[in-house]
Amino acid sequence: MCGIVGYIGNKDPVPILLKGLKRLEYRGYDSSGIALLQENNLTHIKKAGKVSDLQLLVDDSSIKGTCGIAHTRWATHGIPNDVNAHPHFDHTGKIALVHNGIFENYETIKKVLVKKDVHFSSTTDTEVIVQLISELYYNNDEKLTFEDAVRAALQEVVGAYGIVALCADEPNKIIAARMGSPLVLGVGEKEYFLASDASPIIEHTRNVIYLDDDEFVIIDKAGYSISNIKSKKIISKSLTKIDLTIEEVEKGEFPHFMLKEIHDQKHSISDTMRGRLNLDNGTTNLGGIINYIPNILSASRIYITACGTSWHAGLIGKHLIEEYARVPVHVEYASEFRYRNAIIDANTIVIAISQSGETADTLAALKIAKEFGAITLGICNVVGSSISRETDAGIFTHAGPEIGVASTKAFTAQVTVLIMIALNIGRKKGVSKDRGKELIRALKTIDQDVAIILKNIKNIKKVAQYTATAENYLYLGRGINFPVALEGALKLKEISYIHAEGYPAAEMKHGPIALIDENLPVVFIAPQDDTFNKVLSNIEEVKARGGIIITVTDNVNNSIKSLSDFVLTLPKTHKYVFPITCSIILQMLAYELAVCRKCEIDQPRNLAKSVTVE
Ligand code: AGP
Repeated sequence: MCGIVGYIGNKDPVPILLKGLKRLEYRGYDSSGIALLQENNLTHIKKAGKVSDLQLLVDDSSIKGTCGIAHTRWATHGIPNDVNAHPHFDHTGKIALVHNGIFENYETIKKVLVKKDVHFSSTTDTEVIVQLISELYYNNDEKLTFEDAVRAALQEVVGAYGIVALCADEPNKIIAARMGSPLVLGVGEKEYFLASDASPIIEHTRNVIYLDDDEFVIIDKAGYSISNIKSKKIISKSLTKIDLTIEEVEKGEFPHFMLKEIHDQKHSISDTMRGRLNLDNGTTNLGGIINYIPNILSASRIYITACGTSWHAGLIGKHLIEEYARVPVHVEYASEFRYRNAIIDANTIVIAISQSGETADTLAALKIAKEFGAITLGICNVVGSSISRETDAGIFTHAGPEIGVASTKAFTAQVTVLIMIALNIGRKKGVSKDRGKELIRALKTIDQDVAIILKNIKNIKKVAQYTATAENYLYLGRGINFPVALEGALKLKEISYIHAEGYPAAEMKHGPIALIDENLPVVFIAPQDDTFNKVLSNIEEVKARGGIIITVTDNVNNSIKSLSDFVLTLPKTHKYVFPITCSIILQMLAYELAVCRKCEIDQPRNLAKSVTVE
């Protein structure tokens, strides 16, 4: 949700900042901008639209500087236009600032400033802080330094932020601070970088510092210092070496990141399981949460909290944990969980699932759970993310960077981790070694299964071409595959803008059946398990009403063939691995439909990858 980049060093900041913005564009792509400081001269360019639109203007300009800041926006306050694009400036034009987050009390502060005749040019919450800093810096008897003016302003705002600021009257200096929105400091040879994540930094240096909440950074000729925003107490933090590669953050031969990430699943699920499967004992080794296994075994309940796709993974996790481990699991939208009076105590385990590890609602839900004494565990993809640091313990999914806005490989990695947790606890609670081995054997062949799915996409393309003009789509599944239906529908909505709903297959007759006619494609998830014949009956019900039947199954029999308009075949696998293989075929279906409809696949309208605001 908004991407920030900052640079100070001996190189030309422009290409570094623009490339950095491109890497962060997954966080928002409504508008972008750049500001550069050259001695006492602050210049800028900003523009509604993609970073490529900004790039054209920058290429045509002679903008230059010795340090600079840049921003790609996902609009919250104020429409996406040139004026509301970041950086924002104070009324003197001497202070520039980029911001990721929301200042909740901006209206109150704005009223006070307007009374003092401060003129605002944008309708953003961000401009308020830059005008406030200016007021404290230029119109204050106390004669504050720029640093102190920024610190003082930050103490008046309420909300979440990652900010980076420049001042023309104190050149060769960048100031940054973090409260609730991620910020990484890159430490190179006499050059420093600031960014919302490490991807803009990796080709310049591998040494980074993940900033924590309440931290304030000053970078100037003397180097960098990190301190507490309020107390100014110096904080000593060690450098972390990032092992991200450039290939991982570029799409290579693929036309879209989403397609690359779907294909990454040929190895990413195995990456998630690496070193964690124990076939001999039919169990899993989960070093990350090993100290908390006794707590899980004796827990009265488990809450899984997450948003969007990660919430769907949680629903699959509930099914697995209850099946194997026999502990009650409640799956809650983080945005609801944080505001309701859930029953949480020291006997409660709260598992937060998040690809980014930065989702504001999930983070807030986690903090509340901690306050009530719960043990908190995380399932995150991004190492060093806020959620991974806030939890008592956790398991990284190791799916590699996910850049496409629609989550794909992170989802299958989350489900894989949940399978491993369920089996681990289950084995300790009496699930037999043979049952464990059976599941692990199926997990071990997943790379081949995924490769088969991704080789046979002819049928998926046919379905996509046939249904590309559909206005609605229905996804039906039962049991553990109901959340798979929800996830299939979400993928389609996100990238193709076709309205889609996921439903438990048998619930269809309690309402959605009214929608069925010859224009409605209905995806049936029909695994070869004890729900198979029931799903077959549901297919008959749709057939009788003329719907377009698309069946996804690992059990193609004559009934399926005769009832379905299209059959998407999956390799035979364990019933608890099926949700993974089935999700991959549904990801491909959503992708191909979006291609047919010529949609902006990696940057769907209105969305951002990481939702760091409420
Ligand atoms: C997935 O395709 C979505 N873009 C979205 O629902 C996402 O899963 C959600 O915002 C949660 O993100 P997180 O996993 O990073 O917390």
